[in-house]
Amino acid sequence: MALNNYKLQVKEINKTFSSGVVFKKNSFQAVNKVSFNLKKGEILAIVGESGSGKSTTARMITNLIKPSSGEILYDGTNINEKSLRKQLPEKIQMIFQDPFAALNPNHTIGYAIGRPLELKRKVRGSLREKVLELLTQVGLTPAEDFIDKYPFQISGGQKQRVVIARVLGLEPEVIVADEPTSMLDVSIGIDIMNLLLDLCKERDLSYILITHNLGSARYMADRIMVIFAGEVVELGDTEEVIHNPKHPYTQLLLHSSPDPWKSTKEDIEIVESADTSLPEHGCQFQYRCPFVTEACRTTSIPLYENGNDRQVRCNLYAEED
Ligand SMILES: Nc1ncnc2c1ncn2[C@@H]1O[C@H](COP(=O)(O)OP(=O)(O)OP(=O)(O)O)[C@@H](O)[C@H]1O
Ligand SMILES: [Mg+2]
Repeated sequence: MALNNYKLQVKEINKTFSSGVVFKKNSFQAVNKVSFNLKKGEILAIVGESGSGKSTTARMITNLIKPSSGEILYDGTNINEKSLRKQLPEKIQMIFQDPFAALNPNHTIGYAIGRPLELKRKVRGSLREKVLELLTQVGLTPAEDFIDKYPFQISGGQKQRVVIARVLGLEPEVIVADEPTSMLDVSIGIDIMNLLLDLCKERDLSYILITHNLGSARYMADRIMVIFAGEVVELGDTEEVIHNPKHPYTQLLLHSSPDPWKSTKEDIEIVESADTSLPEHGCQFQYRCPFVTEACRTTSIPLYENGNDRQVRCNLYAEED
């Protein structure tokens, strides 16, 4: 039984990868004490640059890899509890970036969607009817035209719809989508985002969207969590984060988002490429921060609570704590 209305509670999860199988000489902390809660029906976007630990976080939440420390609760129960072992793989589903790799080229679309339903004994009546219904729900109509096709006979956007149909068939309560539209062209990507948004709203699903793109995050999410070098640097309500970004990294992300209204090359400000190496001590963003002080170079920075459920990992906001 859940003691609160959180579907997921992520508590200080860490992930350290070690190189070398026998002598684990070098270790690298990909995710550092990440914590957040996700309510039923809530959409959270995790935003950050390449290598910041987004996919590693997603893989821990979906139990594909185990955290080095910390815990993840689903409806108040640790996801590694025996009692959840059977139902969890259905309840928390992941959608990957690459729909081309997600579908076996030797199997029809009907098989790709129907086989997991058969294995999980999800269908009482006709399996084919259920698959046709799912295809229709994801906009692949007339469904009879798609069910017997092979993946190579449909487009990338249609493949991602098949993946979504397969996920929906298992009746998940949480969907984690890792850059689900980044391999699709922009207009098809928007269709897929709208489809996911509608399905989540209709079914009151909790949804974690992982993206590089603050525009997609704003369009989809109730809250945005920004991560940098494996650490949460800002977390808050979507409109507040977009209109009043507090962490210098969030400000940089917003500043570097392409703006189509700036139509001429002269209008576009080029953000100079910065030092992307990471320091051993202090704030992880110090090499790129325009507001860096001596204190930022020496001591690590806590996540300050900043009113309105806003969290910011920056000394600029220490006094507002
Ligand atoms: N299995 C692994 N073994 C060792 N290092 C790993 C492993 N998986 C990820 N990493 C490292 O952890 C860091 C975070 O990787 P992750 O894939 O989570 O980044 P990401 O934010 O999803 O990036 P991208 O936006 O490029 O997908 C990277 O430096 C990556 O090289
Ligand atoms: Mg990734």
